[in-house]
Amino acid sequence: MLKGKDILNTAQFTLQELNLIMNTAANFEKKVKDGEIIRNMEGQVVASLFFEPSTRTRLSFETAINRLGARVITIANAASSSVAKGESLADSIRTVDGYVDVIVMRHPMKGSAQIAADNAEHPFINAGDGTGQHPTQALLDLYTIRKEKGILGGQTITFLGDLKNGRTVHSLGYFMALCKNKMIFVSPKSLKMPAEITADLRNRGAEIEETENLKEALSVSDMVYVTRIQRERFADSAEYERVKGSYIVNMNMINQAKKGITILHPLPRVDEISTDVDDYEGAAYFRQAHNGLYVRMALLALVSGGV
Ligand code: CP
Repeated sequence: MLKGKDILNTAQFTLQELNLIMNTAANFEKKVKDGEIIRNMEGQVVASLFFEPSTRTRLSFETAINRLGARVITIANAASSSVAKGESLADSIRTVDGYVDVIVMRHPMKGSAQIAADNAEHPFINAGDGTGQHPTQALLDLYTIRKEKGILGGQTITFLGDLKNGRTVHSLGYFMALCKNKMIFVSPKSLKMPAEITADLRNRGAEIEETENLKEALSVSDMVYVTRIQRERFADSAEYERVKGSYIVNMNMINQAKKGITILHPLPRVDEISTDVDDYEGAAYFRQAHNGLYVRMALLALVSGGV
């Protein structure tokens, strides 16, 4: 179903494909935890190209590649590649495509994933393109929701923080719409979800509420997806200073929220969730980061034809 496909954004998926990825990830999770040697991608080579910083996405992809029995070649920063000499993205991808079986790329420019996929014969996976999309994060978010809540739909989720620049919420919004969850968007006025995304989600049948009242939103939410205010996306540092720390989730707030609320965050965290929340049983963000390994194993195996 996914063999040979590019993974560019979350709008491209059907429910059937999501179920396949979730079930494949669950199988890999069991195998890894049972200590099985896995060879689904033995003999293949994957390029891991990161032109923007990453801890979780790059390392979980590279661990996934290793655990599947494939080999990885990597660019961990633009300065160590010929991009520093002025090479175009299209030329870099055409070159790497001749060496490998699958390409994974993170790049600071929105739309770069499409350019890369257009210049690659092999499957291409978007690991984050600027303020655009981060589809593999949304897949691991969905896998985490399935594990934490036992269901994928019929719930209310609050998206909190930098909804303008946050590619993770741009991506997860499409899955929440597809799975028929209600969304509440809470952000400073200057960091609202882009109007075109909100309109597109509503056109797909999503129920969406926008507010600045976090306390009220949390009182009716089954989950809250917290995001960092992204300093690196601000052209004006004074504006960043003005909005940073606008919303900080702490244990006092959780105690007043809907009972059993699940706290999600793509990480890295700065100060938007205080560390006193980490011991709360519904704080799922580190489990969420660990789930990325199994979901990325599933996606790599599926697009490469290894399952
Ligand atoms: N969530 C996420 O994309 O984290 P990294 O930037 O560390 O990869």
